[in-house]
Amino acid sequence: MTPVEALSEAEAKAELARLAEAIARADRAYHERDAPEITDAEYDALRQRNSAIEARFPALVRADSPSRRVGAAPAGGFAKLRHGAPMLSLGNVFDAAEFAEFCARARRFLGLPGDAKLPLVAEPKIDGLSINLTYQDGRFRHGATRGDGTEGEDVTANLLTLASVPRDLGGPAPSRIEIRGEVFMTKADFLALNAAQDAAGERLFANPRNAAAGSLRQLDARITAQRPLSLFAYAMGEASERVATTHWAYLERLADWGFTVNPLSRRLADAAEAADFQAEIAAARAGLPYDIDGVVYKIDDLGLQDRLGFAGREPRWATAWKFPAERATTTLLDITIQVGRTGALTPVAQLAPVNVGGVLVTRATLHNEDEIARKDVRIGDTVIVQRAGDVIPQILGIVPERRPADAHPFMMPERCPACGSAAVRPEGEVVRRCTGALICPAQAEERLIHFVSRAAFDIDGLGEKSVREFMQAGLLRGPADIFRLPAQEAAIATREGWGAVSARNLVQAIDARRRISLARFIYALGIRRIGEANARLLARHYGSFAHWRSQMLAAVQIGAEARSDLASILGIGPAIAEALAEFFAEPRNVAILDALAAEVTIADAAAEAGGEARLAGKTVVFTGTLATMTRPEAKAMAERLGAKVTDSVSKRTDFVVAGEDAGSKSRRAAELGVRLLTEQEWRDLAGL
Ligand code: IVH
Repeated sequence: MTPVEALSEAEAKAELARLAEAIARADRAYHERDAPEITDAEYDALRQRNSAIEARFPALVRADSPSRRVGAAPAGGFAKLRHGAPMLSLGNVFDAAEFAEFCARARRFLGLPGDAKLPLVAEPKIDGLSINLTYQDGRFRHGATRGDGTEGEDVTANLLTLASVPRDLGGPAPSRIEIRGEVFMTKADFLALNAAQDAAGERLFANPRNAAAGSLRQLDARITAQRPLSLFAYAMGEASERVATTHWAYLERLADWGFTVNPLSRRLADAAEAADFQAEIAAARAGLPYDIDGVVYKIDDLGLQDRLGFAGREPRWATAWKFPAERATTTLLDITIQVGRTGALTPVAQLAPVNVGGVLVTRATLHNEDEIARKDVRIGDTVIVQRAGDVIPQILGIVPERRPADAHPFMMPERCPACGSAAVRPEGEVVRRCTGALICPAQAEERLIHFVSRAAFDIDGLGEKSVREFMQAGLLRGPADIFRLPAQEAAIATREGWGAVSARNLVQAIDARRRISLARFIYALGIRRIGEANARLLARHYGSFAHWRSQMLAAVQIGAEARSDLASILGIGPAIAEALAEFFAEPRNVAILDALAAEVTIADAAAEAGGEARLAGKTVVFTGTLATMTRPEAKAMAERLGAKVTDSVSKRTDFVVAGEDAGSKSRRAAELGVRLLTEQEWRDLAGL
């Protein structure tokens, strides 16, 4: 093989093409069929050569380069990509009469009799963002957002992190084809993302659509990789040849090529069936895992579509039958205050119960006092409620004509309703906070709920409801008390709704969590601005609990070296450093921390450089698809920690890390009694 230094530009180009293909082929064999065709060493050699050539010829890096799969952050914004065929929009109809008019127009345009059957395809209209994927010779070339319809942003690296974007069409396909679809986030994933954003003190997304757009349009594709995005494919752009004669057959081709087509899509023998389908989807809407705002109806025959063409920016062969907006008016009965984990006071509207799009709404967020003032919302007003993104009800505004004479403005309290401490609003901030930190029962309760949550101590059977119950009963005051609950097993067993079995299970769940990674431990403390990602950075930087604790105490002093060391950790910075210093400056916080540390074992994190070989001598097998890292990445990480990574499970294997769709290897592990780890357990073990 020619050494990289000796390659000409033309040779390098040809090699990169060859390598991209070979690596993609190996990836498919490994990830999709779980049947590797080459050894790991051969695979690594391919990747290494690819990287070396790219380093020497940066201009030759391909859009589908294997090195772009995890994606380095581009220097500036996104490059622009021109769509082969423009991405247009859709007209809307809102009721059966308007829909009938759409069909009548199409028939007239085609010269069909008014009673001619008009076969359609109906697809739920997902509220996400549309993207255009270009495939050349069956291989994914690049992908772009819709942009202005002519030109979008090149989000290729980000799209490559989506499992639902096929790298290869894996079958006969036109030499060049544009495939369009919608990238979206499920409602549940949206809520979880916002909770994590909130915990990390980062901005919240208004709805799943914004969350999907914000996640896809990340300059650092590694962030996109951590966001749960999906794609439904539904349309065609430019294509070098015809792939079907009906839209329905085209959807089938899409599915053959490995795309996900919305399973609720339906072929209708005639437009007359649309109203029933519309009602069916409207009824299913609230229960769907993702937001939809209507149904798209497309004339099935692609020949007719061609003849119909476009009127301006809208096709004559398709329309969106939208659901009525999910809004309603109701009376604002009262405004109450909710105190969050970090003391933030949030005004909550208490509403006369109202049905909004099939869901009974009794409360809505009013965000903060500025928001109330801006909308001039007064108690007694008639307000317009909207379920934003189908999830969190919001107050859009008031109906001024219906303001009763006795409507009265709301005053944000200057004291915390839970503990009576002063509630202050720092200059330049919109949020008023309770200053009672450690004496405020509301904050303590929210902190404990955070403490036991999934990404923190993750204690099964100890959810929000039981935490509130135990606090009320005086069984819990602070986090350390959780680990003293096992001593109360008998007392818990006699509580209403508990019993011996649930009490036993709870004790076991608590005992199972006495050992915890440093990152989770730090995150669980619920310190302002310390979300999961920052907790991981801290754990990796400081390595052990004792070291972290002593450095944080030293960092309380503004000029201290420990403070500048903290603020200089990549990704931390002064604001986060200050939040930590604030926490450690309070002796009662340190006392709570120490009481907790005495109850649990905090595992050291892998040291950043030099790497203590915490997995030294261990043999690891990875199987299935990991959600948060590629297989080569996981392997490299294990090796860095001193482990040996092998392909097959034997008695000598120490543990098997099973990702999504793990097959025979995890069964084999079970047979041999080899320890099976979930991806999260593996991440904990690796100190991530
Ligand atoms: S077809 C020319 N099908 O709706 C036809 N669009 O209002 C172009 N959308 O930009 C689109 N689900 O973002 C089509 N099944 C579906 C859709 C869909 C959602 C979005 C898409 C488009 C917008 C038009």
